Amino acid sequence: MKKIFSLLAFCPLLFSVGKLSAKDVFVNTPKTTLMLSVNEGSTPRIHYYGSRISHSQAQEIYDAMSINYDAYPAFGRTSFDETALSVTHADGNMSTELAITGSRQEGDLTIISLKDKAYKFFVDLYYKANSESDVIETWTVIRNGEKKPIRLEQYASGVMTLRQEGAWITHFHGTWAAESQMTEEPLTPGLKTIVNHDGVRTAMDDRAEVMISLDGKPQENSGRVIGAALCWTGNYKLRLETRGKYRHTLIAGIDELHTAYTLRPGESFQTPELALTYSTEGKGGVSRAFHRWGHNVKLHNGHQVRDILLNSWEGVYMNVNQEVCEQMMDGIRELGGELFVVDDGWFGRKYRRTDDTQGLGDWMTDTQKLPDGVPALLKAAEDRGLKFGIWIEPEMTNSKSELYEAHPDWVLAHPTRELSKGRGGTQLVLDMSNPKVQDYVFSIVDNLVKGNPKLHYIKWDCNMSMNNYGSSYLTSDRQSHLVVDFHRGLRSTLERIRAKYPDLVIQLCAGGGGRVNWGFMPYFDEFWVSDDTDAQQRLFIQWGTSHFFPTMAMAQHVSASPNHQTGRIIPLKFRFDVAMTGRLGMEMKPSDLNDREREYAKKAVAFYKEIRPVIQLGDQYRLLSPYEGNGFCSQMFVTEDKSEAVFFCYKFEHYVDLHTPRWHMAGLDPDATYRLTEFECSEHEHYFEGKTFSGKFLMETGLDANLSRQFSSRVIRLKKI
Ligand code: DGJ
Repeated sequence: MKKIFSLLAFCPLLFSVGKLSAKDVFVNTPKTTLMLSVNEGSTPRIHYYGSRISHSQAQEIYDAMSINYDAYPAFGRTSFDETALSVTHADGNMSTELAITGSRQEGDLTIISLKDKAYKFFVDLYYKANSESDVIETWTVIRNGEKKPIRLEQYASGVMTLRQEGAWITHFHGTWAAESQMTEEPLTPGLKTIVNHDGVRTAMDDRAEVMISLDGKPQENSGRVIGAALCWTGNYKLRLETRGKYRHTLIAGIDELHTAYTLRPGESFQTPELALTYSTEGKGGVSRAFHRWGHNVKLHNGHQVRDILLNSWEGVYMNVNQEVCEQMMDGIRELGGELFVVDDGWFGRKYRRTDDTQGLGDWMTDTQKLPDGVPALLKAAEDRGLKFGIWIEPEMTNSKSELYEAHPDWVLAHPTRELSKGRGGTQLVLDMSNPKVQDYVFSIVDNLVKGNPKLHYIKWDCNMSMNNYGSSYLTSDRQSHLVVDFHRGLRSTLERIRAKYPDLVIQLCAGGGGRVNWGFMPYFDEFWVSDDTDAQQRLFIQWGTSHFFPTMAMAQHVSASPNHQTGRIIPLKFRFDVAMTGRLGMEMKPSDLNDREREYAKKAVAFYKEIRPVIQLGDQYRLLSPYEGNGFCSQMFVTEDKSEAVFFCYKFEHYVDLHTPRWHMAGLDPDATYRLTEFECSEHEHYFEGKTFSGKFLMETGLDANLSRQFSSRVIRLKKI
């Protein structure tokens, strides 16, 4: 079936209007089409990206004088706009002029081959159409066929262009403990750049994902929207050039600043992928396409529901020991949790990890804290019917560590400069471009699992940027390869780990959500959304993050009140209701809960187990944004067959005469009747308990579900009858 589909998608057509011998390629997903023309001797042109069309409609595209833009503009010859590629050839010539030499389709892949008109310099453009979601991945393979080395100055992954007046962009940015803040603004003439220069943590500030809304101000569940995500673990740049209000061109790839890359004769360079989708169902449609792609293709173990865990960090920070861990294990077991994770603080011999100034790299148990080591912790968890996980920060060391004493040449450094140190005044980044360091990082995980075969989970943290730009492994003429080779080394190490340990659950963390990027997701099961566990701020952080990432991957923990980051006091129900919209966990000492709270937490964990498949595997519909809801916010999750759903609404501000909005649902079957049940309502009565409504009514007319106090919330479960 797939074969017929792809053969049909590749169809030469002859046109008399403005196009002679146009050969058109259709990259089709179930609901979308990207149409390019690929005439030999000229450049590939993008003509259409939108709802799926048939080949007979190609003429309409040309007749409508739609877009006609170079799919991979190169510097120096024909393009005075932003370029995707810039090369210094072996003879010093800085111009490149690409022309198509052929194109083919193999299964889901479309490959367009280009060659410079004067040089043996080759570029292949790849487009992969996912048949189970509406995401297209595009990337580029660049090959040096010249006789001497060439230098890639700019090497983007992909390009998308559109013509639309009044388009808006949605993008995400932030900082530690305030990640993924959303900004929505009209695209105005000029260049909008979204960039990351951290070197190590690709999402520490800006995020590499954007949405472009074609019908004005972005709407959640209506309007045409294009979504784009650069899948890369390192520095990146997304450029959005707007010309004359109408034409918007997105060029995305590895950031070219300080990353010129030399290719020897015969060598090739494969860029990371740019993932694209198009939806007529607003931003929510784009999100659901990315979530589905995550489940089916990109996220490690994307169909496996995640465990409910207790992480030790906010409970005891680095003061871990056997006794306190066992108390926490007892606590989470009593509440119904399934996994205990010991966070930072468990390791270090000569340099004990008693604070953040030392010990990273010395991955042996601190026997003063844990006399019988990790095996005893694991056994204690097992005795309680819990799985066990452990924290590491493998790409890092401290200047106060046995590792650094033994291998000072393994850290990123410049020989003529003093080291710039990070966290604790001593933290340093290991040189992942060095194969010996890659082997060492692999061995950290390998040794942990070999020593503890039942180890279930690892939290892989990363808390520093690339402060010292220099590698003693790379030769002096290749120092500009550092960021790229660091991340290639990291990725190949992660690949090795995954090849050997496919079932190990691994959480991605970087001082919170500093690495949330699709480039990491094939190796990780989930990520820590933020070090900010304040439920009110989490509404915003999680809202932003969910635009591109599936809930099953979003680690959301209930923590203590007052909250450790903000000091805010929030009732336990609200904290649970906010955390339940992702992978639920806890991050506190359960023994700090009073009896009433403990009973509540037990019910909440049991309830989450019931709704977990709907939350983690269902479709997410964001409804009322916290950015616009005047102190209110809501979202819901619906199973693919629309037989079950869970609706959440929150009130996080309060003043006199603040009226609760009418709640309109989405994603339900309009013709079905649903019975509603409420989970532990914070209002006085379970008003909707047992009542039935049609899907149409719930979506069109909606419910007046009152929320009276600040931090009140409702969770309503819907079942089709
Ligand atoms: C930063 C992480 O985000 C926290 O959750 C915790 O693991 C600390 N690092 C430990 O140092």
